[in-house]
Amino acid sequence: MWGSKIGFIMAAAGSAVGLGNIWGFPTQVGQGGGAVFVLIYLVCVFFVCAPIFISELILGRGSKKGPVGAFESFAPQSAWWIVGALCVLCGVGILSFYAVIAGWTLAYIYFTAAGTLGGNAQEVAAAFGAFTANGAANLGLTAVFLAVTAGCILGGVRAGIERVTKTLMPLLIGLLLVLAVRAITLPGASEGLRYYLRPDFSRLTDFNVLTAALGQAFFSLSLGMGALITYGSYMRKQDNLAVSALWVVLLDTAIALLAGFIIFPTGFSIEGFDPSSSGPGLIFQVLPQLFATLPGGALFGAAFFILLAMAALTSTISLLEVPVSHCIDEYRWPRKKAVWLLTAGTFLLSIPSALGNGAVGRLSSMPAALGGNFLGFMALVWNQYALPIGGLLISIFVAYRLGLPKAIQEITAEGAQFPYTNLWGFLIRFVSPVAIAIIIISSFL
Ligand code: PHE
Repeated sequence: MWGSKIGFIMAAAGSAVGLGNIWGFPTQVGQGGGAVFVLIYLVCVFFVCAPIFISELILGRGSKKGPVGAFESFAPQSAWWIVGALCVLCGVGILSFYAVIAGWTLAYIYFTAAGTLGGNAQEVAAAFGAFTANGAANLGLTAVFLAVTAGCILGGVRAGIERVTKTLMPLLIGLLLVLAVRAITLPGASEGLRYYLRPDFSRLTDFNVLTAALGQAFFSLSLGMGALITYGSYMRKQDNLAVSALWVVLLDTAIALLAGFIIFPTGFSIEGFDPSSSGPGLIFQVLPQLFATLPGGALFGAAFFILLAMAALTSTISLLEVPVSHCIDEYRWPRKKAVWLLTAGTFLLSIPSALGNGAVGRLSSMPAALGGNFLGFMALVWNQYALPIGGLLISIFVAYRLGLPKAIQEITAEGAQFPYTNLWGFLIRFVSPVAIAIIIISSFL
């Protein structure tokens, strides 16, 4: 069990806040055309995803099981367990490419501290290209990140994560605020703010932007793959489930928005900056330029990438915990065996993502519609399709199979107050599933 209500919020926030907020969100905003993406993203978070967030916690706390066990216990002798199995696969799939980018953050701790990235935009971009094309370095860093993740959950996931996140979050938010203030006061920042805040509504009907925003919302909230079912299963009955969920959603969204206030003003202060063409390298190319404008920039840079690596670690822990706890519960594996076998398997799967950024030509350039390279392809499959489809099935399950009365009973267990149960019921029955179905189907047409 988590130690307290705050303990759960911290653990779930540790899962939610990570590369998705600081790397993924600005990258997607850049590719999705700026403010209009932000707007769609916010609608997705609050009207489509937040109700599913609550639903995952209901399934977890109500069953005290991981995703497969939760579906089995609420719908025995049915095929619903397959949705749980999809969740477990999703954990491994996401972790396989997530660990590669997490490895980049480790390298950038060193690069920024040592000042080896060069001074101007061309040099910083060239340094990024040369580094990601180094296959051996990328494989090594991915392995290190996975091994550290494995080491952290060998003794179980609840041991230290609440405490780590409790210290990490204030530090991360504090540093992001300082950087945002610096970014906004750079010459040329106002153009970046306009791009970030003033929507170009002509892209509102672009279904690629809609699917990208929906997928990003799921990814950032750790939603649609059972991480929150698993974390919910460790939640105490007396803690207010829905209110805790909303706190995590708000915190996660605030941190993503804050990252945008750093990246876009800084980006637009650099000559010839084009947010849409930078792709996954965006933050690694823009941020070093920001650190260069600060006194003690090397220190700020290193501190930033240390905190980002820690935030990524509290997310990879939750990604790995889903398949690990599944193998422990369903196959009775000892924890040690589950952790190391799954880590090794994930590493094998991560090899093409680690080598697909310049090291191996065939993995590095794929059609743009397929994500551009292998890593982009993985992100497309898992984030844009698997997570929303998982979320769709979870919402259908809670609304129509488990049923609202039972679900609301879990929300209001032990006298917990939640003033929006009716609104939640409406959203989970009609809004979340319908919106996801429309967006996914139309993205194929
Ligand atoms: N939400 C995490 C992030 O934003 C990533 C993640 C996705 C973690 C799915 C767990 C499950 O970095």
